[in-house]
Amino acid sequence: MATAGKVIRCRAAVAWALGKPLSIEEVEVAPPKAGEVRIKIVATGICHTDDHILKGSLPNVEFPVIPGHEGAGIVESIGEGVTSVKPGDKVIPLCIPQCGECSFCQNPESNCCHLSEPQNLLPDKTSRFSCKGKQIHHFMWVSTFAEYTVVPEYAVAKIDAAAPLDKVCVFGCGFSTGYGAAINTAKVKPGSTCAIFGLGGVGLSAVMGCKAAGASRIIAVDINKDKFAKAKEMGATDCINPRDFKKPIQEVLTEMTGQGVDYSFEAIGHADTMIAALASCNMSTGVCIMIGVLDSGSEISIDPTLLLTGRTWKGTMLGGWKMRECVPKLVSSYLEKKFNSDLLITHTLPFAKLNEGLELLHAGKSIRTVLLF
Ligand code: APR
Ligand code: ZN
Repeated sequence: MATAGKVIRCRAAVAWALGKPLSIEEVEVAPPKAGEVRIKIVATGICHTDDHILKGSLPNVEFPVIPGHEGAGIVESIGEGVTSVKPGDKVIPLCIPQCGECSFCQNPESNCCHLSEPQNLLPDKTSRFSCKGKQIHHFMWVSTFAEYTVVPEYAVAKIDAAAPLDKVCVFGCGFSTGYGAAINTAKVKPGSTCAIFGLGGVGLSAVMGCKAAGASRIIAVDINKDKFAKAKEMGATDCINPRDFKKPIQEVLTEMTGQGVDYSFEAIGHADTMIAALASCNMSTGVCIMIGVLDSGSEISIDPTLLLTGRTWKGTMLGGWKMRECVPKLVSSYLEKKFNSDLLITHTLPFAKLNEGLELLHAGKSIRTVLLF
């Protein structure tokens, strides 16, 4: 492409400092160095984790930074030595890389990579972004709130050329995280009972995962009853609002199911709902999956007998998928209509309306807003 090897000037949303709103700026994006890929981002979802950055609840984020991690785009140019993608390929940038060589990558049970730590810079410890003469940090390798971004080759998944980028961008985080939490991390069994706390994009994807795994009862829990219609559409059999009950929600769920659910999922990110989710699964074989992100530095204290009796408490990162090899397969399954992740996308806005998208998220009016460049 004509832009290869040159600095590209384009729009991006910059978080200049903690607590400051995102501001849309013209930034310079340097060409990819060896082993890197420059991607023209076509669409990006807004995830709650992006909002966590602005509030300072994620560890290791350095400002100024370009957030965004749920994007899809087209390779614009590649650096020396890149072999797995070429200009023109449709791709999803990945916030969990897959180097393919470390002990985690070699372990079929793990989707970590020794390079998984949140990354503020590219592997050579420099940034490809600058604005007004200042270096701008990358976010988790990907920074999809930019019209062009540069990522290492091992953090890019090539996807089917037929994939609609404005729809499959949600595979970069929200859908994969919730759906995989049920399929991979919990390994939900057919006929089982599940409870999902929090019906945002992540929790609703967990509802879809439980349904796909053949769960017979799927209880959706949220304090916003406006989320219930969508949860039912995705497979929830019961929807409950903790505020409608005097007793703690774990007691309500235990009564509804006899002994507690087989699998519970927390997709909110609060300590109290994490404890409630753990206490909601049955005391012997129940499995609780922690998906929500707690504020950095916060701690949870639990009664250890919750675990002593036999419950399992697990966490999941991006739904346990080995992203580089699994995201292309998820996209193919989507194209074969094996699930309908489009149901998550409630709003599509031009990139310039990013802050409007964040307001929709705060007001609980959107599941996923997709921004188009
Ligand atoms: N009890 C039940 N539901 C609650 C509670 C509560 N105490 N507090 C909030 N919720 C609901 C909200 O009403 C909302 O529907 O949790 C849902 C959270 O959804 P989103 O804000 O859309 O978040 P989402 O993008 O789905 O991410 C959820 O997963 O990846 C992480 O960082 C992400 O921690 C976040 C979580
Ligand atoms: Zn996310």
